[in-house]
Amino acid sequence: MRLLFSQKITTAWAVLVLLALVFSQCGNTQGRMEGAALYRVHCANCHLDNGQGLGALIPPLAGSDYLAAHRERLPCIVRHGLKDTIVVNGTQYAEAMAGIETLSDIQITNILNYIHTSWGNDLPLYRLDEVQQLLKQCR
Ligand code: HEC
Repeated sequence: MRLLFSQKITTAWAVLVLLALVFSQCGNTQGRMEGAALYRVHCANCHLDNGQGLGALIPPLAGSDYLAAHRERLPCIVRHGLKDTIVVNGTQYAEAMAGIETLSDIQITNILNYIHTSWGNDLPLYRLDEVQQLLKQCR
């Protein structure tokens, strides 16, 4: 009887752990799908579907060394744009990018995480609270 009980507890734990795993994956997949869809609508017309950018006018996101070097700045760039002279992978860019003020904090998080894990990019994901904190400090 005792044995049976502890076996049941073990099974219940196993099921719980499995469920937790499945749900956490679901969250990621959904966030990634939203990120991909938003990227296609708001970013791909310039940075292209494959993140390659456009010659000397639009910097690439695929393999961009700018992403890791300016992690704290990226949420503000998406929301408020960028009008600067920047260097990405050794090439200088000076065209302006408009921000998209209508994107919510979570949408910005999902777009950035999509970029950070696409086209061979393998950068650490953002958490929503991290993005919210960074967005409060936009200059
Ligand atoms: C109208 C064209 C255009 C659109 C649309 C656009 N960008 Fe940009 N993006 C640029 C340009 C031009 C720059 C360089 C800006 C500068 O030199 O100041 C840039 C720079 C960047 C950078 C930093 C440099 C790099 O390549 O790593 C990131 C990150 C970025 N854009 C992400 C996005 C995201 C995410 C979206 C969609 C939400 C987006 N951009 C939409 C044109 C665009």
